[in-house]
Amino acid sequence: MKPPTIRNERRRWTGARGLVAVAAAAAVTAAAFAVAVPAQAASTLKAAAEAKGRYFGTALTRGDLSNTTLTNLAAAQFDMVTPGNEMKWDTTESSRGSFNWGPGDQIVSFAQSHSMRVRGHTLVWHNQLPNWVSSLPTNQVQAAMENHITTEATHYRGKVYSWDVVNEPYNEDGSLRQDVFYKAMGSGYIADALRTAHAADPNAKLYINDYNIEGINAKSNGLYSLAQTLVAQGVPLNGIGFESHFIVGQVPSTLQANMQRFADLGLDVAVTELDDRIQMPADSSELQQQGRDYGMIVNACLAVSRCVGVSQWGVDDGHSWIPGTFPGYGAPMMWDSSYQPKAAYTAALNALNSGTSVSPSPSVSPSRSPSASPSASPSVSPSVPVTGACSATIETTNSWPGGFQSNVTVRAGSSAVNGWTVKWTWPGGQTISSLWNGTQTVSGSSVTVRNADYNGSIAAGGSTTFGFTANGSAATPAVTCTSP
Ligand code: G3I
Repeated sequence: MKPPTIRNERRRWTGARGLVAVAAAAAVTAAAFAVAVPAQAASTLKAAAEAKGRYFGTALTRGDLSNTTLTNLAAAQFDMVTPGNEMKWDTTESSRGSFNWGPGDQIVSFAQSHSMRVRGHTLVWHNQLPNWVSSLPTNQVQAAMENHITTEATHYRGKVYSWDVVNEPYNEDGSLRQDVFYKAMGSGYIADALRTAHAADPNAKLYINDYNIEGINAKSNGLYSLAQTLVAQGVPLNGIGFESHFIVGQVPSTLQANMQRFADLGLDVAVTELDDRIQMPADSSELQQQGRDYGMIVNACLAVSRCVGVSQWGVDDGHSWIPGTFPGYGAPMMWDSSYQPKAAYTAALNALNSGTSVSPSPSVSPSRSPSASPSASPSVSPSVPVTGACSATIETTNSWPGGFQSNVTVRAGSSAVNGWTVKWTWPGGQTISSLWNGTQTVSGSSVTVRNADYNGSIAAGGSTTFGFTANGSAATPAVTCTSP
């Protein structure tokens, strides 16, 4: 008998899944990177998602980075990366006060070199927590937590789009988990963690992330009450992450309504760790059902204006955590273990290409992070002035009443560039609300964006991008690029 929708207790971990034989890599065809789509439709998840003002992400571990078949596929299809384990407390601060950024930095570096953004995961979680934290005297836990958050969020400042600040804080009955943080600080640890993260990285979107909160149920009701309180108190909570570890055919029918009620609080929502497991061996009707599940999930995100994106927890069936944790289950991903696209991939892509996305509700609080929903065709700046060794183009990728999102591509000329500055003047009072992959200086209507510390070097003929969301009418002003 298959387990119920409520996720089973995690069972034993049987270790990382073996790498798929190198020979399988040779068998990967272009079909793994794109499927036939109608004219005008995007042929990758990321392009289709971006056309709808969303991202499509994946989780990658450090081990994945040495698998070029997997990373090529990830880079072709996804524009957001969540480190699978590398930013968790047991990796970053396994002994008190001693920080290890190497593994997380490797994931960030991969993302940056493929123009992908990063969802930071995670700062405060009862799992993958070193023993030194769980065995601290109660009166030392808050200081340890705040120091951990401050140090890690500062290290990754400007390099992550968002943070899962607090991960999996709820029990199934809607009460808060009695973990070391709760025991030391009560429910107030969550607001404290969010405020601490905000102080360290004011531009990162700050999330609470959990599983089995995708439908309307006791657990999501508990989180909803907390979110209402945090918003009312002005705590810097920007979003709710719905992990979405589903069982085939059991995606909750209330998924969209549930995401919408959180969005109506002025919060972003995101599907953060999607997989859809099947009792093995998977038959073709289950794979077709999995496709319908993926389509339904993507459509739910498109229908909620503040749903910013969907991330799958991994790339292919051969590297998923599912078989090790749920023995007898597998095949939860959009690609099989030979990296061939499954019905789920086609369904997700088709949903993105054909789905209708919804513009933000005017009732959404403007003080919170802007949502990303399209309403206009992308427009590109008409001219590309070149000064010095670089050029830049600005493109509106998405707009909604009162706001828009743009990407700026910075290109090196025939020589490599080491540091760049892009400038423009807003024509009609626009203001940037959030900018990533660059640092901005604003003076009246003049905007200057300099490279971040990780994307200043561009090889000859190469390019990098930065992006922003802004308030006001969508505009594509002339932009200049200079390089010292
Ligand atoms: O690093 C050790 C290695 O030294 C040791 O030899 C090996 C022996 O089993 O274990 C390795 O650590 C494992 C770690 O992944 C890195 O591979 C842990 O045992 C294993 O428990 C851990 O599993 C991770 C799991 O979180 C822990 O809860 C999975 O990879 C990771 O995908 C999973 O991700 C979570 C999200 O963070 C939160 N939501 C649920 C999701 C799935 O469980």
